[in-house]
Amino acid sequence: MRIDIMTLFPEMCEAFLSESIIGRAREAGYVDIRTVNIRDYAGNKHNRVDDYPYGGGTGMVMQPNPIYDCYRAVTEGGARKCHLIYLTPQGKTLTQERVRELSEMDDLVLLCGHYEGVDERVIEEIVDEEISIGDYVLTGGELPALILADSISRMLPGVLANEDAFTEESHYGHLLEYPQYTRKVDRWRLEQAVARTLERRPDMLEAAEASGELTKEEKEILDVLKDM
Ligand code: ADE
Repeated sequence: MRIDIMTLFPEMCEAFLSESIIGRAREAGYVDIRTVNIRDYAGNKHNRVDDYPYGGGTGMVMQPNPIYDCYRAVTEGGARKCHLIYLTPQGKTLTQERVRELSEMDDLVLLCGHYEGVDERVIEEIVDEEISIGDYVLTGGELPALILADSISRMLPGVLANEDAFTEESHYGHLLEYPQYTRKVDRWRLEQAVARTLERRPDMLEAAEASGELTKEEKEILDVLKDM
């Protein structure tokens, strides 16, 4: 899958995309994520990409032409059929289900807005889908685009070490994931410690319970042991 991120801040995106699991997945060729600077398509000598909103009001709006020209370059003049997603708090809230569906597409383009957003004609003419990452407002679309790219990438074959990794996790079905322990043995050891303390020094557990020192996990184990 190829994902192009159209942004005014490519370095900000690259900083995230070059590290960790996504960084390795890009290097290994499991996902082709590129960042494109909209300012390179400003088309004027001052490299301006914003403009005053029609009818006045506060803030600036991103001009349509640099976005059109940038998108035309990404799609190679329309030769590549892409699905253009505009990240905006006005979009539909992202879900794991939508992430899964998007991960089956071949060519995605993510448009990051800034200032008060993009000129409405861009949305009417080229945007295929508007996505919000939640009911709060950020200073720009870069973090939302990175969240979307991250959540999609990890669904692609080869990106996660274990292909089943996401079939058991939260939001895959109707249950949240079971609690994680660094190793199963940690849990086993804790169970053994609680059992031994209950058997030999129940007073210590009682005192810990009374003073609120008992962790939730210890309490769960204790409740199970007491029921046996
Ligand atoms: N841009 C600013 N806030 C956003 C949000 N919550 N979701 C997507 N894009 C945004």
